[in-house]
Amino acid sequence: MFDTMTVTKAVGGVCGALLIYLLADWAATAVYSMDTSSHGGDGAPEQAYVIATDSDAPAAEAEAAAPVDVAALMAAADPAAGEKVFGKCKACHKLDGKNGTGPHLDGVVDRPIASIADFKYSTSMEEHKGTNWTPEVLFQFLESPKGFASNTKMSFAGLPKPEDRANVIAYLAASN
Ligand code: HEC
Repeated sequence: MFDTMTVTKAVGGVCGALLIYLLADWAATAVYSMDTSSHGGDGAPEQAYVIATDSDAPAAEAEAAAPVDVAALMAAADPAAGEKVFGKCKACHKLDGKNGTGPHLDGVVDRPIASIADFKYSTSMEEHKGTNWTPEVLFQFLESPKGFASNTKMSFAGLPKPEDRANVIAYLAASN
């Protein structure tokens, strides 16, 4: 049975909850309107957009960041660790000047792409002719061979770890 006290408590509880909700809502609105009032005048979204597009500076920074990153990884790379990583390549690539399933990789670091005369490259690898296999380009190719050359004949998923890529490139450079 409901007595007056139970009803009063229930109503009180609901009112209390409502009051807390209203206070929280008010606080949130206050924070939100403070935020908009400080930027509202110049249109905050427009400003953010301008920073993202207008800018040569951040884009140049982003471009500069990738090579620096590779250079830093290369500087820290370990050819001995790279020799182990090369175990994954050995089935197809040799370092004695003879082609296997893949072209030989003697001196591949800084070698022109698709330049081994007696190896039949895929068309999408040949499309990259004119560029050299710099550490940066190798770094990109070895992360995702198919991402680099969509119909590449190199059926290898790639080396997801940046350290593995840097190490194997260092090994290839050292065995030139
Ligand atoms: C299953 C065989 C296979 C494996 C494993 C493999 N490759 Fe290849 N690789 C190929 C083939 C085939 C090509 C030629 C690709 C083309 O023409 O599209 C190639 C091409 C390349 C090239 C371009 C050479 C050039 O002359 O332009 C590089 C560099 C290379 N591989 C490095 C590696 C490295 C490093 C690994 C190990 C992390 C590796 N590959 C693993 C088969 C393989």
